[in-house]
Amino acid sequence: MIEYINLQQAISNLLSGKIVAIPTETVYGLAANIHNEAAIQNIFTIKNRPITHPLIVHIHNNFDIERYAQINNLAQKIINTQWPAPLTIILGKTSNVSNLITGNQNTVALRCPNHELTQSLLKEVGCGVAAPSANRFGYISPSKAEHVYQEFSCFNYDISILDGGECEIGIESSIIKIDNDDNISILRHGMFDVQIFSNIANITDLTKININIHDNGTNTIKVSGNLPVHYAPSNNLYILKPQNLLDTINKSNDGDVFIIFENSSNILKLIEDTILARIKIIYMPNLATKYAHNIYNSLREADNYTYETHNIYLEQIPSTIEWQAIQDRINKASYKFINKI
Ligand code: TXA
Ligand code: MG
Repeated sequence: MIEYINLQQAISNLLSGKIVAIPTETVYGLAANIHNEAAIQNIFTIKNRPITHPLIVHIHNNFDIERYAQINNLAQKIINTQWPAPLTIILGKTSNVSNLITGNQNTVALRCPNHELTQSLLKEVGCGVAAPSANRFGYISPSKAEHVYQEFSCFNYDISILDGGECEIGIESSIIKIDNDDNISILRHGMFDVQIFSNIANITDLTKININIHDNGTNTIKVSGNLPVHYAPSNNLYILKPQNLLDTINKSNDGDVFIIFENSSNILKLIEDTILARIKIIYMPNLATKYAHNIYNSLREADNYTYETHNIYLEQIPSTIEWQAIQDRINKASYKFINKI
C-alpha cells in the first residue's frame, strides 16, 4: 500500500523499519533506517536495484560524523562550511556502517540534505537514513511527491510518502570523494559543482589540492549514476540541435513531444497549426538552475503524454559549466539511442 503521511508518522515508520519516501532539496529519496538490515534489503527490492550499488547515508546537521566515517581535515572544513547542501561526501567508513549499504566497499557516502522537514525527521530519528532516489532503478528520478506515488502505485509495496513540496534543485547531489587533505575527486556532477570550486577556494588553498574530475567509464568504483543508461524515460529520447528543430517538427509523428527552450518558441510561428495540434511542446526555462528544477518533471510529462510509443526530442543545451550536471543526466537518459539528431 502507498499512502501520504505526516512528519510524526514518518519518524515512527522509519524507527519501526518501514520504508518512507522523503523530500530533499535535490530529489525525493526512498528512506530506511541504516541500522535495520531488513529495511535496507527492502529498498534494493523495491527499487529493483543491484545489490552492488551503494546507498547514500543521510544525516542531521549536528550528527556526530565520526560514528560513520573517518574524517580528515579537508573534509571537516568542507562539512563545517558547506553543509547542509546538495553535496554528498565519500569517506572511509567505520564498522557502524554495514557492507550492504556500501556495496562491500570500505567507504561510505554521507549527505546532509538542505530541507527543513527532512532535517527535523533526521534529528528525531537520531541515526543515519539510507535514501537512494525514489524511482525504479534506471528510470527518471522524482522531484515531486506525486512522482513517487505514480512510480510505485501499481506495485504492492508498503511505502509511505512525506510530502515536502517540489524539490528546489531538481537533480541529484554532487558527489565528491575526499581521500586525504590534498585530494578531491568529483564522482557525480550536480548543481553544486560550480560552488565546489568557488566555496572551497575560500576555505583552503586550491593550488595544493589535486582535483580529479571523474572520467566516465574508466571508474572501478560502482556508482550507479555512472551507468551508461540512467535517468531514462521509457520512450526514445533524442537530442536535437536548434538548427534541426523546424525540420524535425515538420516531419514528426502524432504524439511526439518536443522539449524546447522558451527562447525558441518563435520558431513555432513557422509551423502549420495542423502539425502543432498533433504534437506536444514543453517549454523549458533558459536559466540552468531553473532548467534543472524542471527537467525531471518535463521528462515524465513527455513520457506520459500518450500511452502509445512516441519520440521525445529535447533541444540541445549549452555546454558551459553551469549546464554540466544537467548535460550528464540528459546524455544518460538518451544514451541508448546513439543516433543523436
Ligand atoms: O541527491 C541525492 O544524492 C539523492 C537524494 C535522495 O539525496 N540520492 C541519490 O541516491 O541520488 P542514489 O542512490 O540514486 O545515488 C547514489 C549514488 C550512486 O551513484 C552510488 O553508487 C553512489 O552514490 N555511492 C554511494 N556510496 C558510494 C561509495 N561508497 N562510493 C562511491 N559511490 C557511492
Ligand atoms: Mg538514483
